[in-house]
Amino acid sequence: MALQERPVGKFDRAVIFLGPPGSGKGTQAKELARKFGIPHLSTGDMLREHVAKGTPLGLKAKPLMERGELVPDSVVLKMVAERIERPDCAHGCVFDGFPRTVTQAKYLGELLKQNGLHQPFVIHMVIGHSVLMRRLTGRRICKKCGEIYNIFDRPPKVEGICDIDGGDLYQRPDDREEVVKPRLQAYEKQTAPLVTYYRRLGFLYDVDARKSVEEVQADILQALAGIRGAR
Ligand code: AP5
Repeated sequence: MALQERPVGKFDRAVIFLGPPGSGKGTQAKELARKFGIPHLSTGDMLREHVAKGTPLGLKAKPLMERGELVPDSVVLKMVAERIERPDCAHGCVFDGFPRTVTQAKYLGELLKQNGLHQPFVIHMVIGHSVLMRRLTGRRICKKCGEIYNIFDRPPKVEGICDIDGGDLYQRPDDREEVVKPRLQAYEKQTAPLVTYYRRLGFLYDVDARKSVEEVQADILQALAGIRGAR
């Protein structure tokens, strides 16, 4: 069945995108959330919004993000708890970049139970680090709609301008080469253990994230169709 023809209906599950920086979590999470009509919750985007607004949370997070380090669990968990309780998450949501530590994962499990949602389904984006530097340093994002491009592999039609709404494209400060390295190290040390954690619980599905955006999307939809059908 072609992707466009897949039935898209009510969804009552949280989907988690787990993978290193640049593996394509945001690209796929946005699209999946749109397809199922559920919110896309990126803790990175939420934190960047706090930084841009200069809130107390943003002031705390800014230097850590600039160094490629994780923001403390307590800060992230409070932010997610407030967001997931909003009515638009009643039928599920797509987490992008959360959870990132075992503490966050355990807390999320409780939070989902309290909000009447099934156990999460975890998409593990499998990819070697050698590809990630090119993906991250080449990434450009639309200021207006957040569409993600790559100057090497997914360039916009007109340089610096979003194809969708004509917004200006910008580069994230943590996509500079010197910050990408500590981000990858933080992933290996603090986030990669979640692969074992979720695999043991039986919630994990491995996706080959080296494939094209369209192929990765097809693999994800196939995996989700399997679990939806199995319920
Ligand atoms: P966050 O914003 O979550 O960044 P990240 O996890 O480092 O992931 P990225 O957004 O960089 O990459 P992605 O996997 O989404 O890839 P994308 O789809 O954009 O976090 C930023 C910071 O916030 C953290 O360092 C930390 O400080 C803090 N933070 C956030 N959450 C936290 C938490 N829970 N706890 C503590 N701290 C937290 O794609 C990348 C590029 O590749 C793009 O150019 C894209 O076009 C291209 N691309 C995508 N897919 C493909 C493909 N299949 N083929 C070719 N190119 C592709």
